[in-house]
Amino acid sequence: MAASQKPLSPRSKNDLAKNARSTSRATIGVFDSGVGGLTVLRALLDRIPNVDYLYFGDTARLPYGSKSAATVAHYAVGAVQYLQAQGADLLVIACNTATALALDEIKAAAGVPVIGVVEPGAEAAAAASRNHKVVVIGTEATISSHAYRRALEGRKVTVREKACPLFVPLVEEGWAEHPVTEQVAKIYLSEAFADDAGDSDADVLVLGCTHYPLIKPLLRRVAPEHIAIVDSAESTAQAVARQLHVEPVESGRRDLPALKFFATDSAEKFRTMGTRFLGLPVRDVLHVDLKE
Ligand code: DGL
Repeated sequence: MAASQKPLSPRSKNDLAKNARSTSRATIGVFDSGVGGLTVLRALLDRIPNVDYLYFGDTARLPYGSKSAATVAHYAVGAVQYLQAQGADLLVIACNTATALALDEIKAAAGVPVIGVVEPGAEAAAAASRNHKVVVIGTEATISSHAYRRALEGRKVTVREKACPLFVPLVEEGWAEHPVTEQVAKIYLSEAFADDAGDSDADVLVLGCTHYPLIKPLLRRVAPEHIAIVDSAESTAQAVARQLHVEPVESGRRDLPALKFFATDSAEKFRTMGTRFLGLPVRDVLHVDLKE
C-alpha cells in the first residue's frame, strides 16, 4: 500500500472485501468535479465489475483546476458527504485536483475509507521509471500544489511538473484527435521534456488529470518514443482492487453493476457528455442541488 494512503481499519477492510466477493455487494462512491472522473469509473468497471457504483459530478461548479484549495475542499467535502448519505461504503476521489488539494480534509470529513488518485499514480510511475525521473502533467491547481512531486520525491524519484490547462477544455469540446490539440500537446510536452532543466532523461509521463486518458493516443504519438505513459485512472482502479482483495473476473461471469449518477448541473447534459467519457450509456442521472 502507498505510504500516505490511509489504511483501512481491519473491520472495514474485511467487510468491504467480503462484500466485493459475495452477494451482499459493496457500493463504491466515485467523486469528480464533472464528467472527467468517468475515465476512473471506466477503469474501475473494467477491473471491479462485481460492486455497485455511485458517481457524483459537480458539474455546476467545475472547473476545480483553476480554484483555490479552500474552495475545492469545501465543494469536495459536501459532495462526498452526499455520496456517503446515499450508501457509499468506500470513496474514490477521481478528481486529481480535489485529491491534490483536499484529500486530508475529505478523509477527515468521511466516515468511510477514501482513496485518491495521486498516491496510486505516483506509485505506478515510480515503479515504471528506470531512471527515477518522471514528468507529471495536470491542471494548474494540481501542479501548483506539488502533491505529485511530494508523493514521487518520497519514492526517490525526481519530478518535473507541467500545468496543461488547455487540455481540459479541448477534451470537453470533443477535440481529442483535433490538429489544434495535437499542436498544443507538442508545445506542452516539448516544454515539459526540455533539456535545459537537465530532466531530458525522464522516462515516464504521468497523466495527472481525469481528462487526459481521452487524449492518451495523441499524447503517445507526440511524446518521445521511449516514454512510458502512466494513467492515474488505471493505477487507482488497481489500488482499489488491491484494497478490496478482488480477483480478476472470469469473462462471461460478470454481474452487471448498478450505476447511479448525480450531477449538480443539468442531468441531460451529463447524460450526453458522460456517455462520451465513459464509453457506455449513462442513463440513471439525478440532478442534485448542494447548498453552497
Ligand atoms: N477533474 C479535474 C482533475 O482531474 C479536471 C477538471 C477540472 O478542472 O475540474 O484535475
